[in-house]
Amino acid sequence: MSIPFITAPEAADFVKNGDNVGLSGFTASGTPKVVTTAIADKATAEHAKGNPFKINLFTGASTNDYTDGALARADALNFRTPYQSCPDLRKSMNSGRTHYADAHLSELAQKLRYGFFGKINVCIIEAQDVTEDGEIVLGTGVGNVPTFAMMAEKIIIELNSTIHPKIRGMHDVYMPLDPPYRREIPVYKPSDRIGSEVLKVDPKKIVGIVRTDNPGHVAPFSPLDETTMQIGANVCHFLASELKAGRLPKEFLPLQSGVGNVANAVLSGLAADATIPAFTMYTEVVQDSVLKLMEQGKCTFASTCSLSLSDDGLHEFFGNIDFFRDKVLIRPGEISNNPEIVRRLGIISMNTALEADIFGNVNSTHVLGTKMMNGIGGSGDFTRNAYVSIFSCPSITKGGLISNIVPMVSHLDHSEHSVAVLITDQGIADLRGKDPLQRAETIIE
Ligand code: COA
Repeated sequence: MSIPFITAPEAADFVKNGDNVGLSGFTASGTPKVVTTAIADKATAEHAKGNPFKINLFTGASTNDYTDGALARADALNFRTPYQSCPDLRKSMNSGRTHYADAHLSELAQKLRYGFFGKINVCIIEAQDVTEDGEIVLGTGVGNVPTFAMMAEKIIIELNSTIHPKIRGMHDVYMPLDPPYRREIPVYKPSDRIGSEVLKVDPKKIVGIVRTDNPGHVAPFSPLDETTMQIGANVCHFLASELKAGRLPKEFLPLQSGVGNVANAVLSGLAADATIPAFTMYTEVVQDSVLKLMEQGKCTFASTCSLSLSDDGLHEFFGNIDFFRDKVLIRPGEISNNPEIVRRLGIISMNTALEADIFGNVNSTHVLGTKMMNGIGGSGDFTRNAYVSIFSCPSITKGGLISNIVPMVSHLDHSEHSVAVLITDQGIADLRGKDPLQRAETIIE
């Protein structure tokens, strides 16, 4: 191979102070691990010499501790977009050391192509395989890498030997044309393949390949407790009664499910409910619970942007990859979360609120209105365009010191116009077709 193999510190040397850096992946999945750690080490060394070193980091969504964690601890992040969920980076953002532009995940790629953020200097891609002519088999998450790679001046490949070779064929890499030439994106059901199974890049831009056998590390979700199980049961009850009332087609509709403990509990609830028929998913993350749903025959197909699996989940997935590989397509975030497709397919969206108010407005991002938690993620992409948009959360948090249902949200992410149903452990508030007073009465009840 004429593309040189290099070390992670050699790769980090291609990244300069002030660079715009784009990473493959979505959540910890598909996100580089060793080159980002080496960039953090470089930042620490430069700071020790009294030199400035901070980068602007663009990703698909949240990353891993080798990326946001290491870079935040090294004070190496000047700017970050579009989403994160890392405690150390949260501290850096909330203390003003990192500028964070929280954004709808489906929009970042096109905004970059429109020129709103300048150029991408370096793109780092986790890959299962790469060829001399620039064909890349990606890892378990795609994110915005097609756009980063197309725009980047330099590309670094992080070749990860822990990714199962049979992942080839599970990706669907597609980039829409930009206005005024954009056409419809031809996804008419979640399993429609529209793009390529590999990412094609200009091989002349690849400056080196870094080998790694780091599998990454993702902690499992908190075990289900009484509250999250009750929320899951209430969501299932709502969906079952919609089916019965004929407001959902008997074939059911594709589901989107958000991130976090509550989302995981809702999916586990669906598995246990015999009245919900087998379904497909059109979503941005496949979490551990979806693997179980597939094994039970309850989920027949999932279109996603990443396999956001815990260590155990990933082990199970790679161990049974022959079973899973025709049931999953991994796509770029601008397709997995595309509002046009969400509206066309009639997605049932299920996302989690930090707090909601009695009029149906939802805060997903700012704890007590001031401190950024994670970000809006894909919740807006789906909520605003869903067939029916559901938000759920526990009714209280911090042992009852904080009510998640408040008179008025302290920060607004999803307005009353986009939130159709609010579900907590206390019950279901169906807000459709109600005026503000009726919504308040329903939620209080
Ligand atoms: N005020 C203060 N803290 C609150 C709170 C509130 N109103 N509501 C929740 N919290 C705290 C919890 O106590 C918990 O704290 P801990 O980590 O110290 O235990 C933490 O926030 C997470 O709450 P939890 O109930 O475990 O929820 P979760 O893991 O399901 O995450 C969100 C909830 C809202 C943070 C998460 O879903 C998110 O980031 N959503 C936005 C992005 C999104 O929707 N993406 C999906 C699109 S596909």
